[in-house]
Amino acid sequence: MKYKSKIINGKEYFAICKNNELLEGKGIKIQFDEDDDMQVAIFRINGELYCLSNICPHRHAEEIYNGIIKDGNVTCPLHGWTYNLKSGANVNLKQGLKSLQKFEIFELNKTIYIEKPPLIIPKWRQSE
Ligand code: FES
Repeated sequence: MKYKSKIINGKEYFAICKNNELLEGKGIKIQFDEDDDMQVAIFRINGELYCLSNICPHRHAEEIYNGIIKDGNVTCPLHGWTYNLKSGANVNLKQGLKSLQKFEIFELNKTIYIEKPPLIIPKWRQSE
């Protein structure tokens, strides 16, 4: 989907949805057109907005938006890797070392804006 962009303080942000479309406690997957790997998960938890990569680094599953939210963390529904909502950091290093990228997200004039995730082709796709 193509999203409208807006430049704020020299940085480009994208209007991804109306503020009432992001419900408390229910994540949404946002996919950018350029590549399957350009996707994020957004959340509103206790009124705070969070934006993380939607792709779990464990098995490259596009499931973080479906994660279980608890104690400021989101747990991938597939095998339980757990990440801090604010920082994206992996909070259980016994599971693995990789974390989720986090992105800016904010609300302006009843619209939710995020910064666009960079295109990072994962190693396993690099021979495509
Ligand atoms: S794919 Fe997320 S924990 Fe395995």
